[in-house]
Amino acid sequence: MAIQRPKGTQDHLPDGSPKQGLDTRAAAFRFVRETAQRVLERAGAQHIDTPLFEEAEVVQRGVGGSTDIVRKEMFTVYYFGDHGGYVLRPEGTAGIVRAYLQNGLKQLPSPLKLWLHGPMFRAENVQKGRLRQFHQVDYEAIGSADPLVDAEAIALLVEVVRELGLKQVKVKLGSIGDPEDRQRYNDYLRGLFGTHRERLSDDSKDRLERNPMRILDSKSETDQALIAELGVQPMLDFLGNDAREHFEQVQRYLQDWGVPYELDPSIVRGLDYYRRTAWELHHEGVGAKSALCGGGRYDGLAQELGSKTEVPGIGWAFGIERLLLAMEADGVEIPCSEGPLLYLAALDTEYVPAVAKVALDARAVARTEFAYRAMKPGNAFKDAERRGAVWVALVGSDEVANGTLSLKNLVTGEQRRVAHNELMTFLGEQA
Ligand code: HAM
Repeated sequence: MAIQRPKGTQDHLPDGSPKQGLDTRAAAFRFVRETAQRVLERAGAQHIDTPLFEEAEVVQRGVGGSTDIVRKEMFTVYYFGDHGGYVLRPEGTAGIVRAYLQNGLKQLPSPLKLWLHGPMFRAENVQKGRLRQFHQVDYEAIGSADPLVDAEAIALLVEVVRELGLKQVKVKLGSIGDPEDRQRYNDYLRGLFGTHRERLSDDSKDRLERNPMRILDSKSETDQALIAELGVQPMLDFLGNDAREHFEQVQRYLQDWGVPYELDPSIVRGLDYYRRTAWELHHEGVGAKSALCGGGRYDGLAQELGSKTEVPGIGWAFGIERLLLAMEADGVEIPCSEGPLLYLAALDTEYVPAVAKVALDARAVARTEFAYRAMKPGNAFKDAERRGAVWVALVGSDEVANGTLSLKNLVTGEQRRVAHNELMTFLGEQA
């Protein structure tokens, strides 16, 4: 057996590849990315790219030492047998805030809206929609603590999802309060779970010490059964006045704008940097445990990464693979990539170089492909059809002698004779 790709990774393939779902079509990834880009850039977001690997500390301090991501799912980067203290990025936010601080982006108009797309890496148990290399589109608005910015972020997410054609999706909105609110909640959870310690999974016994809130997003079924049995009070009940007022204001904006959402008092999110507003996007077809998108406010993150002052921020990221599975479940169709406007084939070997030259020139105006060896007319038409070509020209002795191309439109059946020196104008009109 030839070498296989690593477990939990996918190839993104050209259209027409055998056994292809939406989540392995390169064209589908492009469609999602371009749709998100259109919506986000209309709102003033600018593109940012950060390295695929970061200092481990950026992730440890950003995402948080008690999260599954940091404790169990990090890919460490080795080079020349040495461990340089780098990890592959498991998400985009910590790296973006690191870049914001390091490059003085505070100087730019605030809030600074940024978007990023690219691969993320988590060494998770692989299952449908849960990969080790997956791809996110990430939106961040950095520099403002105004609830209006939270509401706008959610509205933008809903707009992206709508433009992608998704139907059965729900925004589940909650708040995880300020650090002192979470402290009170953790004290409550420590008391509650402390009396049932023996029934918790080993991981959750550890979480009980470090950060009891993490028990609530445990993937263990026994933990989840205990949580249901104990009737755990939600985080929302522990919000202080400031966080509550902020949360209510976010909701008022969303209601005013008619942005649909559901309250989810139990939302906790799986990363430590969140404060106040937090939400997830869910889809019935992808399973209750698998959010398509997660987001929230992270006003303390910059200080975790060494900033002397607080830099408020909020954002979200969706997993493109999960979104594509949801789109498939919703029956959304993504058009195949277009074929060439012109396909040229020589009927004799001696004309192949001249045909290639015409094709090279024609590319200044339109997508053009050509046959690399002489073809019989029947085979040339078959090849052109497989490539999805619109116009086909076969070049034989007649065409060369009178300096014209006989073009046939494979879609409409129309036939045209075009002089060589008119080809560009003709293609320009068609493109
Ligand atoms: P997250 O909830 O960890 O948040 O991930 C966001 C999305 O990435 C998930 O909803 C899911 O669609 C996708 N995702 C996560 N892990 C996997 C996986 N193993 N396989 C496939 N898809 C996955 C964040 O990453 C935050 N940085 C979001 C954010 C941005 N918060 C503020 N700004």
